[in-house]
Amino acid sequence: MRIKTWEDYEKAYARSVNDPEGFWGDIAGEFVWRKKWNTALQWNFDEPKIEWFKGAKLNITENCLDRHLSTRGNKLALIWEPNEPKEKFIRLTYRELLEKVCQFANVLKKNGAKKGDRICIYMPMVPELEIAVLACARIGAVHSVIFAGFSANAIADRVNDAQASMILTSDGLYRGNKEIPVKRVVDEALEHCTSVKKVIVVERTQWAVHMEPGRDVWYHDEVATVDKVCPAEEMDAEDMLFILYTSGSTGKPKGVVHTCGGYMVYTAYTFQNVFQVEESDVFWCTADVGWVTGHSYIVYGPLLSGATTVMFEGVPTYPSPGRFWQVIDKYGVNQFYTAPTAIRSLMAMGEDHVLAYSLDSLKLLGSVGEPINEEAWQWYNIHVGKERCPIVDTWWQTETGGIMISALGNTGPIKPAHAGYPLPGVQPVLLDNEGKEIEGNDVEGYLCIKFPWPSMIRTTYGDHERCRQTYFANYKGYYFTGDGARRDKDGMYRIIGRVDDVINVSGHRFGTAEIENAINANDHVVESAVVGYPHDIKGQGIYAYVITKDQGAKEDILRAEIVETIVEQIGRIAKPDKIQFVPGLPKTRSGKIMRRILRKIAEGDTSNLGDTTTLLDPDVVDVIKNGYIKD
Ligand code: WT7
Repeated sequence: MRIKTWEDYEKAYARSVNDPEGFWGDIAGEFVWRKKWNTALQWNFDEPKIEWFKGAKLNITENCLDRHLSTRGNKLALIWEPNEPKEKFIRLTYRELLEKVCQFANVLKKNGAKKGDRICIYMPMVPELEIAVLACARIGAVHSVIFAGFSANAIADRVNDAQASMILTSDGLYRGNKEIPVKRVVDEALEHCTSVKKVIVVERTQWAVHMEPGRDVWYHDEVATVDKVCPAEEMDAEDMLFILYTSGSTGKPKGVVHTCGGYMVYTAYTFQNVFQVEESDVFWCTADVGWVTGHSYIVYGPLLSGATTVMFEGVPTYPSPGRFWQVIDKYGVNQFYTAPTAIRSLMAMGEDHVLAYSLDSLKLLGSVGEPINEEAWQWYNIHVGKERCPIVDTWWQTETGGIMISALGNTGPIKPAHAGYPLPGVQPVLLDNEGKEIEGNDVEGYLCIKFPWPSMIRTTYGDHERCRQTYFANYKGYYFTGDGARRDKDGMYRIIGRVDDVINVSGHRFGTAEIENAINANDHVVESAVVGYPHDIKGQGIYAYVITKDQGAKEDILRAEIVETIVEQIGRIAKPDKIQFVPGLPKTRSGKIMRRILRKIAEGDTSNLGDTTTLLDPDVVDVIKNGYIKD
């Protein structure tokens, strides 16, 4: 379905509310199913149980690849831009991509993988990453992609939670001027995993790596021995497609589960309508496939729609802050989808880098991952979009599978720093402290969704109760997003940010508890408390208050050690920006840390800390205040 005008939008929205099954049934009808569904939707938000198109049979890769061959066999599916601008780029047509996916699928099968197995993928942004993801889907294995910036410990947690039988990885990776020994990290992780029987290693850097006999095989050796054809496994619409781990306010990251049918329908529908991609367009999403944005808008959404996408191995600032713009001109990119943190970091380096490129091909810009501040929005609009490209500010989550609130191209009104109106099929509400729906406009509350959509989270892997507790228990009958939002006088949504103990650093989610646990793993640490604070580039920075055993010790050395522990436990991406050593933490008499106070201090705002008389030790607040680390 294509929404092209505001009138289309209003009609579609009304139908999606009045006849959701008819609405989604029509959209689902655009795909190839081996068998159709009887009932489009069965659901309740209490258990929760959400089933879309159950009983229908399909394979998502047939929809991504095979069905395009008659009309788009020679069309480019993928343009791969390497980290080094001088290295040769790779282009794959739909026909070539299908062949490679089938080959990789046969390598998986040859090594014992079968339908339902969980397979972890820890790889750089190379074409084989996309091919590996699709190869899993081809044979009905459940992929669990782990961003190749997480540590060995983080991999081990995820592998063990999913009881994965295989890891797909590479020898090493290039990212900007960094080189990471990917295989070595996997080897380290595997010291703590017993479920993994096979590791398939893709060659990227040609570094010497350890290959464990009987366990590790080279992809290029294996692929030489297999067929180029691989029939697609028949899947139920509600069979698992993938697990993707994401952080919450408590405990270890949880495995968000998405299923085949609903995810397919929703990612294609949102891709087509939000980005308004036309047949000859080139679409570029700069995310990593390790995050949900990459799953939905590098791999599945574009391929399901028969689009041409760019996949980029590097970073925005390498070898210069003009890299994004150079790549846009190089391939004639029409739709460009990136994160506010990238825009802000490039903005900080000055306009010259962007003004050196024409960017004539651009028709639309997108933003995702965190609220985009007005200054960054304007810079993006003026210097990148030349004030002629609509900016779609897309609000969604790992759990939602696809974009929920956003403009649909330039079909309707757009306001800086506002995600805007919900997509047809999405029913957001704002709730107050009592869990009552707040009516009308110019209001603020907890953002919840009151009706299912096809790509919503089904469960958290291996622990359904956790899914219920986290998303469906706070407000009965609603899916709770964890975000606070404002509905302005025109009914447009503006996301304010997380209302739980989750911090969003450069568009990546971390639970404060998760970082605290990592810090506490350091032998010198007694206790810690982590909060987010506003950061000019990253959106939020990580501020850690730490109590150590040896208070006289050299702070710099301790600080470096704590950072090292976090890098080991989670990965480089979770490094705190500031670590303040404190003699104690502000706690209530029942022992609860008053984070509100710590957040205020981290913000540099100590004028009004509220009532501190109920604290166990009110004096500690002054000590913490005095030790505040500015910049
Ligand atoms: C959280 C989800 C969705 C893919 C990337 C992040 C924040 C996301 C926006 C936006 C304001 C946004 C929310 C959300 N967020 N997009 N356009 N405006 N906030 O996925 O890691 O699951 O994080 O990111 O706080 O809850 P994620």
